[in-house]
Amino acid sequence: MGRKLPQFFFALSMLALVLIAAAVWQASTPSWKNYQRAFFQLEAQGEPNAVTKAAVLATPPQIHQILLPGLQRVDRCTTCHLGVDDPTMKNAPEPFRYHAGLGPHIPSKFGCTICHGGQGLATDVKDAHGNVPFWPNPLLSSDYIRASCGRCHKEGDVPGVPELTEGRRLFETEGCHGCHKLNGVGGSIGPDLTDEGASHRSPDWLERHFLAPNVVSAGSAMPNFHFTREQARALTYYMLSLTNADMGSYYSSMRLIPSPEYGRQLFVEKDCIVCHAIGGTGAKVGPDLLGVTKRHSMEWLDEQLVNPQLVYPGSSMPEYDLEANVRTALVAFMASATQEDAQEILAHRSNKLTPEDVAIEAGKRDFARFGCAGCHGTELQGGVPNPNAQGGQVPSLLHVSDDYTKDEIIQIIRDGKVPPLDNAAGPTPPLYMPSWKHLLSDEDIHQIVDFLWSMQQKAKDSW
Ligand code: HEC
Ligand code: HEC
Ligand code: HEC
Ligand code: HEC
Ligand code: HEC
Ligand code: HEC
Repeated sequence: MGRKLPQFFFALSMLALVLIAAAVWQASTPSWKNYQRAFFQLEAQGEPNAVTKAAVLATPPQIHQILLPGLQRVDRCTTCHLGVDDPTMKNAPEPFRYHAGLGPHIPSKFGCTICHGGQGLATDVKDAHGNVPFWPNPLLSSDYIRASCGRCHKEGDVPGVPELTEGRRLFETEGCHGCHKLNGVGGSIGPDLTDEGASHRSPDWLERHFLAPNVVSAGSAMPNFHFTREQARALTYYMLSLTNADMGSYYSSMRLIPSPEYGRQLFVEKDCIVCHAIGGTGAKVGPDLLGVTKRHSMEWLDEQLVNPQLVYPGSSMPEYDLEANVRTALVAFMASATQEDAQEILAHRSNKLTPEDVAIEAGKRDFARFGCAGCHGTELQGGVPNPNAQGGQVPSLLHVSDDYTKDEIIQIIRDGKVPPLDNAAGPTPPLYMPSWKHLLSDEDIHQIVDFLWSMQQKAKDSW
């Protein structure tokens, strides 16, 4: 017993020390309560009535939280960010400032973290902003916040965020699918990117990696595409938007923002001009569409696009199976379309295609869509380094007709091919020709081969 007493006092004094340290630490980091008191003072300042003023100042502090079952999160950011939906706070200092520009994304329905990142449940600045170990999604810096728009708006353009459109385009044309899976489609040489935006990669890492994959991931098999800084940023935006999170139906109802610009693009893609004129320019199979939104109600037009047969039995207009926002976009375009639009659309139309041209076009699209370009280059030039493969790189496809018959090439695409080793004792080359028979139909493969052969011709012509 006598021996234990000093030990007991020692433990007690250590405990006291810890308590003092905690008190000092707490006093130096203002809690959410202090922010609320400061906010009440700010509100009370402009209050002429003394009674109301006293009432504002006497408001008991409390945690504010927004429950978002549809987004599977709870955000307490408004515990400190108290003026976000109060326009009179537009000149207030942070964290009290009014949030301009939210449009329909009001705090009570969207919270904050879906766009900003951060740790929704935390009530301490550092924790909430997510700048702490083991929290994977710190606040996105203002350079990248708009990448989050693509978490919900996945198709078409997002107004004010051209980076997302450009990033998606690059992904589809540069052949990223050749090595990466996205939503189940693509190769397996690089990591699956379906959830890339929810993972541990910072925007800065992604951008540097796009500029020089090899420098960031030593020995990476990912080619250096020599992207410009803008392109690397656009791809980073696109990557950050890929979260694959389960969202409630309300949030996913706007995958496509039905803008007139997108409607125009659809009008071009669906080739509506082959049957319709606008203001006299175009074809006369169907009615002229100038002013069509004045002749018919929105509901009627929507119904007409869902099922032309129902509106006009025996109609020659095809059923397109268009989703609701696509129809809204088309109607939005028709509401403002003019004869000049029709002239422009006709001028850019590549008509008079032969069936062979159509097959080659389709092959070219598949070559890009399935990511062949990622290894063989958008111009078929090859050249992606492949250490210890014969030749040391992925071969060019511009001269395959010199070495192979069409049937042999069809075989290679169908079954894949492991490149012969340069040095039999050396390591396996990182890149091989995958087998495509599970992804591409025989027709797809024939079209790709037609495309490859059309490029052979070109290479010889320019020789
Ligand atoms: C404990 C109070 C508190 C909480 C909780 C809080 N913030 Fe903040 N926030 C602040 C303060 C104070 C500032 C201004 C100065 C600073 O950045 O520290 C700020 C600034 C910001 C900024 C401006 C950019 C910046 O980094 O300066 C953003 C964006 C932001 N907060 C988002 C959020 C989000 C999203 C949440 C919820 C996950 C959140 N905040 C939760 C106190 C808070
Ligand atoms: C729909 C997406 C979206 C939602 C939801 C959203 N914000 Fe924002 N927020 C933005 C965008 C975009 C900006 C502008 C960034 C810029 O232009 O610098 C911004 C700016 C801010 C800023 C100023 C940042 C700076 O660097 O000056 C703060 C603070 C902020 N938001 C806090 C919040 C809080 C708190 C919430 C939740 C109540 C919230 N935001 C909800 C998209 C959103
Ligand atoms: C959590 C999903 C989500 C995120 C993130 C999101 N939106 Fe939206 N957005 C919606 C939904 C849902 C609507 C429809 C809202 C409604 O009408 O109630 C919408 C509507 C819109 C509209 C329709 C036009 C309008 O103003 O009525 C535009 C434009 C838009 N969002 C742009 C953006 C931009 C820009 C961002 C990024 C700063 C963004 N959205 C982030 C879900 C989202
Ligand atoms: C020839 C195959 C190949 C092609 C084509 C390719 N990648 Fe990669 N990629 C890889 C490999 C292998 C890795 C893993 C090593 C590394 O980090 O570089 C990788 C890594 C990545 C990562 C980092 C993933 C993570 O979190 O670790 C991203 C993001 C990425 N690639 C995006 C792209 C995009 C976008 C394209 C198209 C522009 C592309 N890749 C084209 C092979 C490829
Ligand atoms: C992951 C990288 C990668 C992707 C993606 C890829 N290839 Fe290949 N491909 C290769 C490699 C490596 C070889 C060389 C094999 C060898 O040396 O025997 C090759 C060989 C070929 C050959 C034979 C060329 C020759 O000279 O031996 C053809 C044709 C071909 N690929 C077409 C395609 C098509 C079409 C696609 C898309 C459907 C595609 N490749 C996708 C890596 C790839
Ligand atoms: C093969 C020819 C054909 C194509 C392609 C076609 N339409 Fe039509 N469309 C018609 C015909 C014919 C009518 C007249 C009524 C009927 O028979 O359905 C019509 C009627 C309409 C109407 C109602 C006009 C009115 O004043 O009553 C609209 C709106 C319309 N089409 C829009 C479109 C859009 C948008 C596209 C492209 C997505 C398109 N159409 C593609 C043949 C076509």
